[in-house]
Amino acid sequence: MNSYKLISFKTLGDERGSLIALEADYNAPFHIQRVYYIFDTKNGVVRGSHAHIDLKQIAIAVKGSCVFVLDDGITKEEILLDNPNKGLFIEGLIWRDMKNFSEDCVLLVVANKHYDETDYIRDYNKFLQKVKNV
Ligand code: TYD
Repeated sequence: MNSYKLISFKTLGDERGSLIALEADYNAPFHIQRVYYIFDTKNGVVRGSHAHIDLKQIAIAVKGSCVFVLDDGITKEEILLDNPNKGLFIEGLIWRDMKNFSEDCVLLVVANKHYDETDYIRDYNKFLQKVKNV
């Protein structure tokens, strides 16, 4: 399935501050196998620019903000991540660019698979071809 959606995480806050827990197969709808984070992104940089053949991910701006541009091969949508309680779940063949990183942005990503370069489509025309053939 090629889809994406925003997930709202419950914040466990008290007078000391806030905490959010991600749990596999609970508020993260897959078994988490990998966690990575993107930080110190330079001004004006666009990251991503790829699709995955078969990967589930959730991206969360745990600090600062950035914009995801999501493209299913037909329509493009921009989604602002600007709150640690907002998770962007992406599944399947969706082309993504990330842009407008704030200077302090820390973008946390959890994924259901280990890093595998063979799962990447980094050529936009190949992506369009693949979308048409699915
Ligand atoms: P890249 O795919 O360019 O990052 P982005 O799509 O966020 O712009 O990844 C940068 C480098 O890091 C590239 O050499 C691949 C490597 N990498 C890993 O080794 N493991 C990972 O989990 C990820 C996401 C990337």
